[in-house]
Amino acid sequence: MEPVKVGICGLGTVGSGTFNVLVRNAQDIERRAGRAIVVEQIGARRDSPQVDLTGINVTRDVFEVARNPDIDVVVELIGGYDVARELVLEAIRHGKHVVTANKALIAVHGNEIFRAAAEQGVIVAFEAAVAGGIPVIKSLREGLGANRIQWVAGIINGTGNYILTHMRDEGRAFEDVLAEAQALGYAEADPTFDVEGIDAAHKLTILASIAYGVPLQFERAYTEGISRITFDDVKQADALGYIIKHLGISKRTDDGIELRVHPALVPKEQLLANVHGVKNAIEVMGDAVGPTLYYGAGAGAEPTASAVVADLLDVARDMATHHDYRTPYLAFSGIVEGDESL
Ligand code: HSE
Repeated sequence: MEPVKVGICGLGTVGSGTFNVLVRNAQDIERRAGRAIVVEQIGARRDSPQVDLTGINVTRDVFEVARNPDIDVVVELIGGYDVARELVLEAIRHGKHVVTANKALIAVHGNEIFRAAAEQGVIVAFEAAVAGGIPVIKSLREGLGANRIQWVAGIINGTGNYILTHMRDEGRAFEDVLAEAQALGYAEADPTFDVEGIDAAHKLTILASIAYGVPLQFERAYTEGISRITFDDVKQADALGYIIKHLGISKRTDDGIELRVHPALVPKEQLLANVHGVKNAIEVMGDAVGPTLYYGAGAGAEPTASAVVADLLDVARDMATHHDYRTPYLAFSGIVEGDESL
């Protein structure tokens, strides 16, 4: 069978990780997908010291990748809102499937992007946009597909959890640990997104859309960060039997769906209190299954690449079956435009 030809846009932390995983695990990936997945072209402003690009077609113009007739799937890993939106829409217009790790893009422009993808009959997959390597989107949409979801709650920003963990365990200053998280490639290009809860609110918006089948409504999420938490706060909480965690919480209420991101005092014996470092953990309550828990690395090159490549496997399988029913890749379906259900 013909290989699936991929164009990777962006060669930062996640782009480099994705390339390396695709190359290193090529044989296993081919066996699982039923066909090879090859990198046909890379679009990046600069090369990456983490990646050996020998023999790879590299362009500095990411839009060249979106228009390349030899490419089946565009992997958008440039991040941000505007150029990423234009790139993804251009790829869709050219009939490409899209895989993205960009939660800001999906949370803010997802409704427009999914509409364009549905019109073109292409897939937009975004497992890596939420909780790094944890397959929580697939779980919500497939594994828990029989359930009425009642609530989703958890730690969904690795940088924030890394900062809170190291402040508490080592008594270090907020800024010092943030700088370390940035150096490790966990933080967003603008780390304000991590520490002010914007990144977590993007992810919660996406989770809620899938969990409850509502449109993406990021602007309606309550968002509060951790930037004002001091070591003193952490110590006081500890003395009272709590650990401060930055949580994203979404639940059904009689008045609609609640979406909120804020620091919370979690009793030490609770599961979420024992999630440390860059790890994320998400609890999902379904009416049939009861409580379930998803745990793992929430950021970083290869954990995030793991989710990007899993999406590529799904796209490869889907392309092979040529079926028209692509809804599982979308955030929602059958929602009336302007639905006010949040
Ligand atoms: N900055 C994000 C985080 C990256 O720390 O969780 C993964 O989405």
